Amino acid sequence: MKKILVTRKLLQSNEDRLKNLYDVRLNSNDELYSEKKLIDMSEGCDGILSALTDNLDAKTINNLPESIKILSNFAVGFGNIDLDAAKKRNIIVTNTPDVLTDATAEIGILLILGACRRASEGIESARASNWKWSADYLIGKQLTGTRLGILGMGRIGKKIAKIAKSLGMIIHYHNRSQLSTEKEYDATYHKDLKSLLSISDVLSICCPASKETSNMINKETLEFLPRGAVITNVARGDIVDDEALIDALNRRKVYAVGLDVYKGEPNLNPGYLKHKSAFILPHLGSATKETRTAMANLAIDNLEEFFKSGKCKNKVN
Ligand code: DGY
Repeated sequence: MKKILVTRKLLQSNEDRLKNLYDVRLNSNDELYSEKKLIDMSEGCDGILSALTDNLDAKTINNLPESIKILSNFAVGFGNIDLDAAKKRNIIVTNTPDVLTDATAEIGILLILGACRRASEGIESARASNWKWSADYLIGKQLTGTRLGILGMGRIGKKIAKIAKSLGMIIHYHNRSQLSTEKEYDATYHKDLKSLLSISDVLSICCPASKETSNMINKETLEFLPRGAVITNVARGDIVDDEALIDALNRRKVYAVGLDVYKGEPNLNPGYLKHKSAFILPHLGSATKETRTAMANLAIDNLEEFFKSGKCKNKVN
């Protein structure tokens, strides 16, 4: 029987399935393992079912026991794993695409609505009972007729585009390559980032974190946006230079932000907390019972496929 380390606590039905299939080392206290603890705990294991909270950088990967052959990441993103280091060690890395597209796109839309319609301020006032209706009270930005720029038209970007279009938004996008006409949903393609940003009344960041996208939204690129733009991020915090974005909020170059992901989670730059116009969530993208169950099942399927055939269709390195 293969031995698997599962680094974070999963939903009960997923842990039961794992127990039936493997000699499994579960994390019942849901402790956040340090790099050293993760290495120690994986001793004698054939694979690791990891989470986005595990920092599997080159140093950690190089110190994993020889017996580890697969890192099955419980996420669609894999910015927490050094893919090259894993490849050099002959360890395959897999992810969980598709199953979280709908749930994450829902949060992407919530970020757009929350930031544009001043939800943070509204919630705070309603809870404190210190508001009264007036014609100009908490006036926000209407989505209908507003241009939405999607940075990264992958599965999640496309689903956000589809919902946003039904809300009357006008969709633009930037990708490395243009989608075929039937996959574009009438969205306008921008070959370069500058061109997309220059028409984005609202920006939705949906691209994966990588060396190329790290700090892509920075002091220089923020200037391409129209004054008073709204920025939302449902992808990864590494794509945004926080200091530059907070400065843009301070200068009102940016009207509001809607964020679900941050650099150095679970911490976030305290500069965001000072802004009433920051609508912030604690990385809830895939947080529904259906989606988390499906994600863990797919991470287990990936292990199964790999141990049976030596291959996996969701291999990313
Ligand atoms: C992912 O899978 O990358 C999501 O961010 C999880 O919520």
